[in-house]
Amino acid sequence: MAITSSNLGVLLCLALFSHLAFSAPIDRKGILSLLLDLLTKKNDNACCTALDRFLPGKVSFPTNLSYTSSQITFWSAQEQSLHPSCIVIPTSTQDVSTAVTILNPLPATAGHTDHNFSHTPHAGAANIDGGVTIDTQSLNQVTVSSDQKTVSVGPGNRWGNVYSTLDALNVAMVGGRLSQVGVAGLVTGGGVSFFSGRYGFACDNIKAYEVVLGNGTTVTATSTSNPRLFRALKGGSNNFGIVTRFDAVLFQQDAFLGGQIDQPITNKEAYFDFLADFTQSETYDPFSALITVFAWLQSVPIVTIMHTVTYTNGSASWPPPAFKPLDDMPKLSSSVRKAKLSSFANEIGGDAAISQGKNNFFVTLSFVNNPAVTPEFMKQVYKLVDDAAQDLFLALGLALTMAFQPLPHVLYSKGGDENVLGLGRFEDDLINLLFTVIWPDPLNNQMVYDRMRTLENALIGLAKDNGIYNEWVYLNYASQWQNPITAYGASEVAFLKSVSKQYDPQGIFQKAVPGGFKLGL
Ligand SMILES: Cc1cc2nc3c(=O)[nH]c(=O)nc-3n(C[C@H](O)[C@H](O)[C@H](O)COP(=O)(O)OP(=O)(O)OC[C@H]3O[C@@H](n4cnc5c(N)ncnc54)[C@H](O)[C@@H]3O)c2cc1C
Ligand SMILES: *[C@@H]1O[C@H](CO)[C@@H](O)[C@H](O)[C@H]1NC(C)=O
Ligand SMILES: *[C@@H]1O[C@H](CO)[C@@H](O)[C@H](O)[C@H]1NC(C)=O
Ligand SMILES: *[C@@H]1O[C@H](CO)[C@@H](O)[C@H](O)[C@H]1NC(C)=O
Ligand SMILES: *[C@@H]1O[C@H](CO)[C@@H](O)[C@H](O)[C@H]1NC(C)=O
Repeated sequence: MAITSSNLGVLLCLALFSHLAFSAPIDRKGILSLLLDLLTKKNDNACCTALDRFLPGKVSFPTNLSYTSSQITFWSAQEQSLHPSCIVIPTSTQDVSTAVTILNPLPATAGHTDHNFSHTPHAGAANIDGGVTIDTQSLNQVTVSSDQKTVSVGPGNRWGNVYSTLDALNVAMVGGRLSQVGVAGLVTGGGVSFFSGRYGFACDNIKAYEVVLGNGTTVTATSTSNPRLFRALKGGSNNFGIVTRFDAVLFQQDAFLGGQIDQPITNKEAYFDFLADFTQSETYDPFSALITVFAWLQSVPIVTIMHTVTYTNGSASWPPPAFKPLDDMPKLSSSVRKAKLSSFANEIGGDAAISQGKNNFFVTLSFVNNPAVTPEFMKQVYKLVDDAAQDLFLALGLALTMAFQPLPHVLYSKGGDENVLGLGRFEDDLINLLFTVIWPDPLNNQMVYDRMRTLENALIGLAKDNGIYNEWVYLNYASQWQNPITAYGASEVAFLKSVSKQYDPQGIFQKAVPGGFKLGL
């Protein structure tokens, strides 16, 4: 799906690109003559053959076991259903550069090969049919600096791997909340964390990016070196290059409080009141984080409310005042305990594992928290979603979730205008809604998309009628038809386009990498 996570790594795809003039870097001549030779022999896999020649043992074809083991790491069945001609699994930044250099200078005669720029972004966010996918699973270093102030993280890491290293040193970084999610997609798209109340988005805490640009050159972007690229990468997703290293800020972090609290659906009104109170900048406790999921399962008649709560001040005791009203409500179960970051990431990761490999769908929207309006609005939201779930239960094995996440102004403004998310133009406290749907049978895909689009429109209409619609769209949660980049606002879009022209004048990451959310150049 458009915003899925690969299980073992992060994947980026390059389709063959046919309209590039050849500039003349070091080894391109050799590559070019090999390609021309292969093309005149009508070898449709010319690119892959060239890659295999220059990166021996690192290119997998459909007959290799490593091809299948890379493909099954995609979170969604839709991504798994695409079949690149080959998959490159680089083991160094130099390999990424070599791969991009080979894929870049294709002569116009390559136009007849298997490139296809027009398939849906949904299934193609990080994979491609008949092109080349670069799987960064082996770029998985986690290197803590000697003063323990920063960590260099490879893009192919999953958070579980990062956190097990950091936990051992009692340090943490602002990253994802589920063990199996990939680093690169989450961080380049923003990144909401258990620590966001204290430190903002994951991207706000990156001090340096190492990036392979479209012409194969490797650069480092920091606030002083390539500062425009540095800023563009803080929310700009896969539009500027392949990030091969993130240097993130570390902070001291001992074991803290958290876990999952399940409640009966009869708590729903009380919860809506609680959320409206909780999501207010004046009183927001930065150590607290909350995700509340309402889950509709075809096989279970009753909707359950599931909260993931964390409180990252390790000295506090449960419940801190921020969670007291929630904790006082009737519970079905609670796993609240004091534990380390990995423990919580594994716990939620375990719950989400049932989605892996199924057809997956995400759609998101945000609304303004107006405590005078929000609880009543939420009751109406609930009704619309419940109706959609009943309709969608026509699909066997379907599950639908609605997740609420507080985004108070104090949280989303932490990064100031250092990121490109465009949130600086807002003052309100926001509540983010994420809907996920999973179902086994691909024959139901269109029905799910259509019904969810109807639901999305109804919710937007309802939010507008109540005067609480907010136009921001969180990229990492967006559906294939949403346009999160446009939602960053006109001035950020203009900035991103100008950075693309500067660092990717050939438009490799606009045209040759069709997946993901593009800049509209
Ligand atoms: C189960 C689950 C839990 C989640 N939890 C959170 C959460 O706690 N917080 C949050 O903010 N989001 C969360 N998300 C959303 C998540 O941020 C997005 O799905 C994100 O895209 C995942 O990144 P990835 O690297 O795993 O995905 P991929 O699908 O591999 O990549 C996503 C995008 O990033 C691009 N990309 C990949 N690697 C690179 C690279 N090296 N350089 C440049 N571009 C690259 C790809 O081309 C693609 O467009 C979650 C998603 C899932 C499925
Ligand atoms: C895939 O198989 C081919 C042919 O056996 C081999 O040359 C290549 O090295 C294999 N690739 C990998 C990554 O193992
Ligand atoms: C190109 O994409 C379209 C739309 O997804 C698809 O129908 C067609 O089969 C694709 N062609 C190739 C050669 O992959
Ligand atoms: C963490 O909690 C303890 C115990 O409640 C408190 O004394 C301390 O001030 C808190 N730390 C911060 C930074 O708020
Ligand atoms: C690659 O692109 C960057 C950014 O446009 C440019 O600074 C650099 O000179 C280019 N390198 C080569 C070898 O063309």
